[in-house]
Amino acid sequence: MTVLHIRHLYHRYALTEVLADVGLDLHAGETLALVGPSGCGKSTLLHVVAGLLTPTEVLMHSEFRGIACMFQEPRLMPWKTALDNIALGLKALGVPKAARRKQAAALGHRMGLAPEDLAKYPHELSGGMQSRVSLARALVIRPDLLLLDEPFSALDVGLKADLYGLLEEQVRQQRTAVLMITHDLMEAVRLADRILMMVPNPGRVVREFTLELPRAERSSPWVYQTTAELMQIDEVRIGFGLSEGTLPLPVTSPEHARHSGCMV
Ligand SMILES: Nc1ncnc2c1ncn2[C@@H]1O[C@H](COP(=O)(O)OP(=O)(O)OP(=O)(O)O)[C@@H](O)[C@H]1O
Ligand SMILES: [Mg+2]
Repeated sequence: MTVLHIRHLYHRYALTEVLADVGLDLHAGETLALVGPSGCGKSTLLHVVAGLLTPTEVLMHSEFRGIACMFQEPRLMPWKTALDNIALGLKALGVPKAARRKQAAALGHRMGLAPEDLAKYPHELSGGMQSRVSLARALVIRPDLLLLDEPFSALDVGLKADLYGLLEEQVRQQRTAVLMITHDLMEAVRLADRILMMVPNPGRVVREFTLELPRAERSSPWVYQTTAELMQIDEVRIGFGLSEGTLPLPVTSPEHARHSGCMV
């Protein structure tokens, strides 16, 4: 099975240590959520996995070959139409023009974009449409690893639910591995198989939670209940700035974090 293993990841920006002894494992078909407060190094970790940043130190083994990223802002090419933005990744893979436009149009359609929307330039699209284009652009190359840096955080609840559905379908059909960052514990509980809880100064993983119930069987009451249960845990409350507690947060290895994590 395709895997990503990271151990002993350290990163400094100048003299500031932002990641200290971070480790994680990710398998094909699995969704792993990184949660934690602003500045705890989530994006830095994602950039390392994407190969966009060389860390100070790491042991990394990745068998994933097709990696796609989606960031908080859609980052579309302003001079290309929605269709050509979606087709961009296929161009890099050498797919001929007619074929890539056809594939991009089919996926755009599945994402709820009408042919007239696909002919528009990014500035002519609403924020929600831009997010659909951005998700389609990430999915069109059929990545085996998808990296998501809070891509849905600025969207309204209905649109978020639509895009979650589209994402879920892709993950199920293609057994895509997903590494997603979110500030929203409830979003993580809804979408992830496992959650890594990070804290800052320096950024490290303090707990890992495994959500045993299959994603397709998670009802909204279950998500609310489980999120509330996780919020009872000191590290989680402190991580989200909800407690004045002075609990010392240990620097844990991934193995230790896994053993100490509650099984929900
Ligand atoms: N290019 C950079 N140069 C110097 N410091 C940086 C750089 N990028 C990030 N940092 C610092 O590294 C730390 C971790 O940043 P990072 O963006 O990874 O956090 P994050 O968990 O993604 O936060 P957020 O939730 O706000 O997006 C922060 O203290 C940040 O100020
Ligand atoms: Mg970030």
